Amino acid sequence: MKKILVPIDGSYNSLEALKCAKDMAEKFGSKIIIVNAQKVSNEAIATSESLDVDQEVLKENAKKIINKAMEVIKGSSVNVKTETVIGDPAEQILYLIDKEGADMVVMGSHGLSGIRRFLIGSVSNKVLQHSPKPVMIIK
Ligand SMILES: Nc1ncnc2c1ncn2[C@@H]1O[C@H](COP(=O)(O)OP(=O)(O)OP(=O)(O)O)[C@@H](O)[C@H]1O
Ligand SMILES: [Mg+2]
Repeated sequence: MKKILVPIDGSYNSLEALKCAKDMAEKFGSKIIIVNAQKVSNEAIATSESLDVDQEVLKENAKKIINKAMEVIKGSSVNVKTETVIGDPAEQILYLIDKEGADMVVMGSHGLSGIRRFLIGSVSNKVLQHSPKPVMIIK
């Protein structure tokens, strides 16, 4: 288990997932890849000039989330890489598993939406369904 991909949306569960991944990485000497995906809004797609402005906002949002994640890692000797991607979160996570050659994914059961009606959220559901590698869901 050399590379652990940890998708982070800034939610409580995603940060709990990162804590678990950190503990495992410390034990197994793995590298952690933290990824945050930012969705482009439909309004932004409709008007191309607002897309530029929107990209800045998205980058800013991602930076805040990544900083939150780095707070969890602080003080650990684990090797960490961070990535910010723009697009559909589940699709981007699945793409990165391949691109980064991740050995496993550790992610939260739920995210920012706050809806607890379902056992897991739509992003973790889609990743769990399509991932070629083991997925650990943290609740
Ligand atoms: N934009 C994102 N970037 C990176 N990881 C994400 C993103 N959104 C969700 N995740 C990951 O997926 C986990 C589950 O979140 P998910 O979005 O599936 O649930 P939710 O927000 O409760 O419900 P939903 O989004 O389906 O309304 C999070 O804990 C996080 O690990
Ligand atoms: Mg969500």
